[in-house]
This record gives sequence, C-alpha cells and structure tokens, in this order.
Amino acid sequence: MNILGIETSCDECSVAVVADGKTILSNIVASQVERHAPWNGVVPEIASRLHVEWIDEVTFSALNASGLSLEDGINGIAVTYRPGLIGSLLVGLSYAKGLAWAAAKPWIGVDHVMAHLYAVQLENEIAYPHLGLIASGGHTVLCRVESPDEISILGATIDDACGEAFDKVAKHYGMGYPGGMKLDALAENGNCAAYNFPQPSLGARRYDFSYSGLKNAAINQLEKFRTGKGETSLPDIAASFRKAAIDMLIGKLKLAAEDTGINHVVFGGGVSANRYLRRVINDDSSLKTYFPSLALCVDNGAMIAGLGYQLLIRGKEAGLELNAQARVSEFRCP
Ligand code: KG4
Ligand code: ZN
Repeated sequence: MNILGIETSCDECSVAVVADGKTILSNIVASQVERHAPWNGVVPEIASRLHVEWIDEVTFSALNASGLSLEDGINGIAVTYRPGLIGSLLVGLSYAKGLAWAAAKPWIGVDHVMAHLYAVQLENEIAYPHLGLIASGGHTVLCRVESPDEISILGATIDDACGEAFDKVAKHYGMGYPGGMKLDALAENGNCAAYNFPQPSLGARRYDFSYSGLKNAAINQLEKFRTGKGETSLPDIAASFRKAAIDMLIGKLKLAAEDTGINHVVFGGGVSANRYLRRVINDDSSLKTYFPSLALCVDNGAMIAGLGYQLLIRGKEAGLELNAQARVSEFRCP
C-alpha cells in the first residue's frame, strides 16, 4: 500500500511516497531556510505563501521520484493537520483534500508530533511499548508510546520548547540561522564547564521541562560578552548552554525509564540531531536508544506517510470536515 505524505506545518515543504509504512520510495524536502534567514526566524506569512507556490511542484517531484502515478500507484494520502503554523498547515491540508477528492483516494490527517515519533520506525523495527522523547522548535514531550496511534504523555515543557531556547539564545548572540544547528556546531569547540547555567527545580512535576530560566540566564551573559568584561567566549557560552539544555532532557528521560522499567527510547524532532545529545546517550548503557537519521530528524513527508499508513489500515479515514489546528492540548490521532 503506497501512501503519499504531505508536510507543511512550518518552513519545510515536503512530500514523500512510502510503501507499507516502511519503505521510503521518495522523500522531497524543499527547505525555506534561506528565505527566512534575513529575519533570523520563521516568518509565518512568508512560510504559508511559499508553501502555496511550491506544494504542487514538490508533490509531482515526489511522485516522479517514486516512479508511481497518483492515479494508479498511490493508495492513500496523508497530511499533517496539527500542530504548527496555521497558515502553513492550511495550505497542505487544503491541497491534500483537493487531491484526495479529485483522485478519489482515501486520506487521513496526521498529528505532526506523533509522526516524529514514528520516523524511526522507517529505519528500525522497534517493539511497543517504548518511551518517546520529542524535542523540536515547538515541542518538548516525554511520553510512553503504546502503539503507532496511541501515546500517553508523561511530561512536557511548561514554557519554552527545547529547540526554541536554542534558537533564541543563538539569535541573541548572532550565531546564525538556523540557530539550534549553528549553536551546536559552535559548542563543539567550547568549554561546557565555563558557565554553570541553572537546572530548574520543578518539584512534583517529575517529568516536566522548563527552558525559560535557562534561556534567560544564557541571554543575560550577552552584555558582559559584548563589553568584553566576561572572560568567556561564544563557543564557551554555546557549550555551557547546550550541556544544561540537553542534560535536562536526559535527566527526565532516565527518571521515566527507572519509574516505568522501559529502557527502549525513541527520539524525534529537530533537537535529536544534537551532537552532544547523541554522544551522551550512545555512551549510556542503561538505555537502548533509537535516533532517526539526520534526514528524518527534520520535518519530512516520509514520517507523515508512514504514520498515515498505520492509521489508514486501522480504518481511520478522515472526512472533508477535518480542519487544521495550530495547537493541541492532548496528542492523539483522529
Ligand atoms: O522538528 P523540527 O525540524 O521542526 C519543528 O517541528 O519545530 O525542529 C526544529 C528545531 C529548531 O528549534 C532547531 O533549532 C532545532 O530543532 N535543532 C537543533 C539542532 N538541529 C535542529 N537543536 C539543537 N541542536 C541541533 N543540532
Ligand atoms: Zn517537527
């Protein structure tokens, strides 16, 4: 069963074709990064307008690369319908609805966060239940994954998302764009012990995260840095911030693993590309961890097609009334 997956929740316009929820036949990712770089961040209006311009071409490139035609080769269409930038989501969702209706194909709306958790299944066979940790520009979620379409949330950020904190610190220091990746690269040459940035105390909120205090602590060093009064360098600030931010993720994850007795962990979201995170986790023999390859860490249509397949074989077809949602209070599939 071949599924066409469409992803336009943020600044990547991506379409993929995946066979049986497993084999990627094509995965085209058209990044808008260069168009947002002058503003050091994603501009929602620019993002949605570019999706409108690009979506058709990206879709037909994905179909061509898969060697399949929409009419004869595609059995269903999956599309991200939440969470994300509302204008961008609406472009992909409306396009998918139109395509499905015109080609008379079944279609399904897919939750973007749950799709990030599914991304590793495109490259590995991971048994359920396992723990999931999603850290991206919009989410920091620790959960227990029962099946492809069922997760229970153990904890989440109470303020900024992990990737968002990376982006904001990078922006304040002019480290470049996209911020998380640039900060990570800079940190490779820094001393992570140069600053002792605070870890929040969340009391009884055992599995929750908070990045706002850490972000502000790092940003507050900027004045010293600019006036040359601080003794530290940009790589040192990057390395110290990165260590504090990632250690928080790992600390909560280890608590959850101890409490639940589940030590298989799936990572997803842009922050899972972080080099320090991968090094520390790979050295930790108490956890069996699965990272998506770098191409599947970022937003991509393949993870949407993969999870879409799982939903369609469970009979969860969407109706034309399904609408886009910028935010979600609970993660579930329709
Ligand atoms: O999953 P994603 O591509 O899009 C969202 O759904 O947000 O994640 C993007 C986020 C950004 O905040 C970006 O700065 C962060 O992932 N990111 C990183 C790294 N690469 C991307 N954060 C830390 N280290 C990285 N190497
Ligand atoms: Zn994402």
